Amino acid sequence: MAFSVPERVRVYEVGPRDGLQNESAFLATEDKARLIELLAAAGLPAIEITSFVNPRWIPPLADAENLSAMLRDRADLPRLTALVPNEKGLERALANGLREVAVFMSASESHNKRNINKTRAEAYAAFEPVFATCRSAGVAVRAYVSVVWGCPYEGNVSAEAVLETTQRLLDLGAYEVSLGDTIGVGTPGQTSDLLERLLARVPASQLAMHMHDTRGTALANCLVGLQMGITTFDASVGGLGGCPYAPGASGNLATEDLVYMLNGLGIDSGVDLDRLVVAGLFAQSLLGRPLPGRALRALAATCTTAIPPSHADQFHR
Ligand code: HMG
Ligand code: MG
Repeated sequence: MAFSVPERVRVYEVGPRDGLQNESAFLATEDKARLIELLAAAGLPAIEITSFVNPRWIPPLADAENLSAMLRDRADLPRLTALVPNEKGLERALANGLREVAVFMSASESHNKRNINKTRAEAYAAFEPVFATCRSAGVAVRAYVSVVWGCPYEGNVSAEAVLETTQRLLDLGAYEVSLGDTIGVGTPGQTSDLLERLLARVPASQLAMHMHDTRGTALANCLVGLQMGITTFDASVGGLGGCPYAPGASGNLATEDLVYMLNGLGIDSGVDLDRLVVAGLFAQSLLGRPLPGRALRALAATCTTAIPPSHADQFHR
């Protein structure tokens, strides 16, 4: 190859959270748990399972307590994490056994306000006690910066705002900041410019990329990230996803598409693509429609593993 990429990367699965938060259907908690088990069986090292946000804001994840309780203390599962917006969310997450949480902040004022009903200054203030509690409880905190590549309300977002937000979240105690292309507008040149500026100040090991594939550029952007040394990439099974508070934000980068590309580049992610396809087909059967991931669609044709029945199929039909 005429360019270099890391030997190993970490794929951080967000489907059960970022994917399902955008669905109008409320899936049975047992089915969400089964999906997470299938993702774990495929070798994903970290899975964001739900959100402890106000269930009135995100009804499809209103079962965060029950789901976490179902999965807690399971030695067969990898690191499980959940999104928390404030102290109340953290209390709920800790009470249900989570040992890692993720906070989120937008690089633009308007998206932050729509998403969490707070200005960015208010959000930082709300995060301080969250980080303090996590520090004393030994709970890891990941942080997202949303709308990094563009905002649905403000358009362009300055690299300076992204840099300032990233630095501040790391200073508060995040072990890693995941850069979100919430509405999937990023293109590779922009990604290269942005990462160049960030990497002058922040080590690649503290950055992750969270791309949405709304305009088909997610993988191209990840390839730029790989070439620049990024080693953690978020993705969502089958390409499920979007942000309900960002109009036009459709699917996340599909985990199968990402793993297919990583395999082709000889990069070890520890994820078994065939087993991942089984998880993707299970998610598809739960939602009752084809999911947008392209590798999933291509590989489904040759998948010979039986897809487990859903809880709804087993018990309610
Ligand atoms: P608010 O209405 O301003 O909250 O919402 P509040 O503090 O004024 O309290 C109002 C009510 O909410 C009270 O209840 C609180 O107890 C309750 P009441 O007295 O009316 O019965 N409340 C809570 N309940 C449960 N869990 C909580 C909680 N906090 C307060 N944690 C709030 C503020 C942040 C809660 C709300 O705006 C919210 O839940 N927003 C979440 C929206 C969301 O999840 N958006 C999508 C995720 S972000 C994303 O998708 C981007 C990302 O994927 C990266 C990328 O793609 O770029 C991460
Ligand atoms: Mg997202």
